Amino acid sequence: MAGAELIGKEELAEIVELFSQEKVNLYRYGGGNYKTREFEEKFAGWMGVRYAHAVSSGTAAIHCALAGAGVGPGDEVITTAWTFIAPIEAISALGAVPVPVEIDETYHLDPLAVQQAITEKTKAVVVVPMWAAPKMKELQDICTRRGIILIEDAAQALGASYDGRKLGTLGSVGAFSFDAGKTLHTGEGGVIVTNDREIYLRAAEFSDHGHMHLEGLPRGKDPRRAKGLNLRMSEVTAAIGLAQLAKIDTILSAAKENKKRIKDAIRHLPNITLRPFADEGGSQGDTLIFSVRDRAAALEFEAHLGRNGFGTKILPEALDWHYAGVWGHLLNAYDRYRDRDLEALWPKTGELLRRSICLNIPVLMDEGTTEQLIASIISAAEAMG
Ligand SMILES: Cc1ncc(COP(=O)(O)O)c(C=O)c1O
Repeated sequence: MAGAELIGKEELAEIVELFSQEKVNLYRYGGGNYKTREFEEKFAGWMGVRYAHAVSSGTAAIHCALAGAGVGPGDEVITTAWTFIAPIEAISALGAVPVPVEIDETYHLDPLAVQQAITEKTKAVVVVPMWAAPKMKELQDICTRRGIILIEDAAQALGASYDGRKLGTLGSVGAFSFDAGKTLHTGEGGVIVTNDREIYLRAAEFSDHGHMHLEGLPRGKDPRRAKGLNLRMSEVTAAIGLAQLAKIDTILSAAKENKKRIKDAIRHLPNITLRPFADEGGSQGDTLIFSVRDRAAALEFEAHLGRNGFGTKILPEALDWHYAGVWGHLLNAYDRYRDRDLEALWPKTGELLRRSICLNIPVLMDEGTTEQLIASIISAAEAMG
């Protein structure tokens, strides 16, 4: 799983360095060490943005990004019906209304569906790039034309790009996660990136109980202009992040190379459909996704891989955590969804997801394992008939 595979002595060295200070301080705003600040500066530099603000998780990052962009009670936020549940949770935690819409053949927000979902209450569109870019030009045009904020929950797409620009930097603000399945791994953790000073400041305030962090004022005297929570990143997490960030180019290029090799070996198979891309060159190596004939074939495919010692990732086995059509526990809070057949709202998304397979592509993959995985995919496809 990307960065998690490479956790080792470099991460430990950063932690040891943190503990070697005369006065060890593991609390972000307690003064002293500021590994978190160093991590933010380096992350912003790698992304090519003015501001990065590190927080406690990817869920916290999208929560802060939305709050920083001014999303609040009653605002409608359009997002995709295929996403990990976190952005929908964050929208709902802010009192805003999540408006999931259908995906298109690239497994991303369908620009037409976005257009149709816009009302006078629409405040933001949250794109969720899944290891590659959505149709960003179309989505940017719609948002600009209608005066809507474009936000990227790029938790799954660190290092992917669109038209040469890194995902996370194409909207007003982007969010990333450093959990165990992501490109960089820090235990828990996340970050927002933006070029907009006001969004940055408001997101940072939201992550720290509303503290405005005014220079020259002691923390206890900090004023507030909006409410917040404690979503801060700790110094230990940031220390791990610094070592992980130093490995990012290796992680991205190795996974991309491994994915290309596997894809090239299976693209001839007549009964699997590799997904089309808005910008294939900018896609990441983390995950390979394709569709098969129907749900039964997808489950059989998964079982066949399992018998060969390989698992799937997200689809088909964790569909329930990635598809709005089964999230009555969250969406029933809203009049527009209560007592509705949620599945019937996003039929195209549900149909495509149910017959799709995602495979994790490791960074460290030896020759033999790569060959075995390719052979397993081919035999699973042949067994499907
Ligand atoms: C799109 C998206 N947003 C947010 C998150 C949440 O990240 P975390 O697990 O760090 O809270 C995830 C995690 O998988 C995700 O895929």
